[in-house]
Amino acid sequence: MSFNNQITSEEESIRQKEIMERLKGRIADISKGLGRPLTYCSICFGCQMNAKDSEKLEGILETIGYVRTESEDCDFLIMNTCTVRENANLRVYGRLGQLKKYKKKNPHMMIALCGCMMQESLVVEKIKQSYRHVDIIFGTHNVFKLAELIETKLDTQSMVIDIWEGTSEIVEDLPSERKYDFKCGVNIMFGCNNFCTYCIVPYVRGRERSRRPEDIIKEIKELVADGVVEVMLLGQNVNSYGKNLDPQISFAELLKQVEQIEGLKRIRFMTSHPKDLSDDLIEVMANSKKICRHLHLPFQSGSSKVLKDMNRHYTKEQYLELVDKIKTAMPDISLTTDIIVGFPTETEEDFKETLDVVRKVRYDSAFTFIYSKRTGTPAASMEFASTDEEIRERFDMLLNEVQGIAKETCARFEGTIQKVLVEGVNEQDASLVTGRLSNNLLVHFPGTPDMIGKFVNVKLAKAMGFYYMGEAM
Ligand code: 5AD
Ligand code: SF4
Repeated sequence: MSFNNQITSEEESIRQKEIMERLKGRIADISKGLGRPLTYCSICFGCQMNAKDSEKLEGILETIGYVRTESEDCDFLIMNTCTVRENANLRVYGRLGQLKKYKKKNPHMMIALCGCMMQESLVVEKIKQSYRHVDIIFGTHNVFKLAELIETKLDTQSMVIDIWEGTSEIVEDLPSERKYDFKCGVNIMFGCNNFCTYCIVPYVRGRERSRRPEDIIKEIKELVADGVVEVMLLGQNVNSYGKNLDPQISFAELLKQVEQIEGLKRIRFMTSHPKDLSDDLIEVMANSKKICRHLHLPFQSGSSKVLKDMNRHYTKEQYLELVDKIKTAMPDISLTTDIIVGFPTETEEDFKETLDVVRKVRYDSAFTFIYSKRTGTPAASMEFASTDEEIRERFDMLLNEVQGIAKETCARFEGTIQKVLVEGVNEQDASLVTGRLSNNLLVHFPGTPDMIGKFVNVKLAKAMGFYYMGEAM
């Protein structure tokens, strides 16, 4: 592993573009020899940060001449991995085993693995030993280097492994293949400094690094000029944005600047840590015309004791107070959350506190997870206070509660007329289009493909649980 911070990001960006140019010629030659275009398949597990990284990887692959396919029977397969819970890792190994047959059939095929799981040395060892058909392995810090790694693979014909332990570098201005024409994720920071005791993210994504506001604004302006109307500002903990910048800037300040961008219509962001959510941010949100009425505010556990063991830096009471403040400032806000059941020190009493928070806050939706032990994190060496069976029962009870409440909460806008950004034609019924409300809920209504990317006023005729059926007005 290496820790790279010698070259400036500008030099690096130019260097990578030169490599892409060279590779373009080589890929074209291989393609000519085969008498067909070379294809790539991109698989992405995990969160929005990974999805964004995959867009960057896809941008590089398209630039050097690969053509996208959804089939794994392709010439270049890139798998961006997640390791936040154990089952994410198991899925990758399963998939890798299946890929062997394609590689046998197609000797030109390259398989690349990247993302959070590759930042764990035990994983890389296992792949080196048991999955020799993998060609390229890299991590979360050097996504921008894909072209260079492919070039090395073509030159050496042996497995290329390049994992950085960390980096202070942020390489700007490289290609990115956007999934949607009208909306786009924008990284505002990388990494996390919080070290929640259950979480592996700080170990695999490194310390917090914020992008400079001028780089963020420039990127968003370019996106808007290219047709984007909605951005999602991405970071593991957006509320601590700017703390490591000189001069310092707060997330609320950044939002004010983003709000000024002409032509941009909607601003979303995730994820917020309750401990860092400032009054300024609430005020900026409440006064904004563009920031969406949705806040994802993970609480993880309702027990102050468990929260302390998780190193979350807030109590149940502080969290509920914060929610009150937010709801007072924005009565129509939709709140969503993440909850972990079965953290090692959680007892039945602690779990009741979690249920209590769910009942008090009444979330629009909640992601519920059973605690998964991650080697190397402090919680991995804690004793369990409950059995697997007890935890499973709690999980089912919580899911039931969350879903029942969400159904009622989501329905509260039934009968109103709201602006919907149309995202696509409905997958089940082509006479319908599907769009999103400011509060992130989905609406299906009769419409045509020309509406995609546009705002339509829709009457939310019928609440269907987690979505609405509507009529364009
Ligand atoms: N086990 C279960 N859930 C976890 N999360 C993070 N680490 C773990 C773990 N070890 C959940 C948290 C976080 C979300 C992205 O994943 O709820 O907010
Ligand atoms: Fe993990 Fe906590 Fe950082 Fe979120 S804030 S990424 S849960 S350590």
